[in-house]
Amino acid sequence: MAEFQNRDPAAPGFWNERFEQGYTPWDQGGVPPTLHEFVRHATQPLATLIPGCGNAHEAALLAQAGWDVTAIDFSAAAVASARAALGEWGSQVQQADFFSYVPARPLQLIYERAFFCALPPYRRAGIAARWAALLPAGALLAGFFYIDDSAQASLKGPPFSIGSAELRALLTPDFELLEQHAVDGSIAVFEGKEIWQVWRRRA
Ligand SMILES: C[S@@+](CC[C@H](N)C(=O)[O-])C[C@H]1O[C@@H](n2cnc3c(N)ncnc32)[C@H](O)[C@@H]1O
Repeated sequence: MAEFQNRDPAAPGFWNERFEQGYTPWDQGGVPPTLHEFVRHATQPLATLIPGCGNAHEAALLAQAGWDVTAIDFSAAAVASARAALGEWGSQVQQADFFSYVPARPLQLIYERAFFCALPPYRRAGIAARWAALLPAGALLAGFFYIDDSAQASLKGPPFSIGSAELRALLTPDFELLEQHAVDGSIAVFEGKEIWQVWRRRA
């Protein structure tokens, strides 16, 4: 049974400990099929950032498809794990804090999976503001959101779920929702509450 000292998911030590002990129940172990579909239907490769990438399976898919992808994580252990897992694509992964990271080139897409829901609710406004700051008008925010409309859904975590109205209220000032659908085949921690959404940065 794994034992952990760190209780604050907003600090890198929390995640270091879990990667070091091989405790990663959020990890899909591969690329979610919905992202495969998204890449297949994209009309052009998109300059993409993956914040809080963990093992960054998606970075290999995007790099292989010819997309300019950077995956970042502030946990040194996560970065080491991702680089070991990605082999030739390991250089796509950088150790960086999402809240201060500045991309080398303008972004066209931020991909979200299990990063937003990994952080406590008090961090949400800051994440949304950073998404908006990093994406120029017309660029996309796409990925998987952990949504639960039952009362008090977000109080325990990670993962911290969010209500659909709360998420909409958070993102609507800067983003327009283009697409959403429920996801089949989620791993156990996200089962029944994982929604794929694509948002476009407003002008
Ligand atoms: C639940 S894991 C999800 C990892 C990956 N996205 C996945 O789907 O498997 C959350 C990740 O976010 C990272 N993280 C949390 N806060 C961060 C921050 N401020 N900057 C960069 N990474 C962060 C953690 O280190 C951890 O690897």
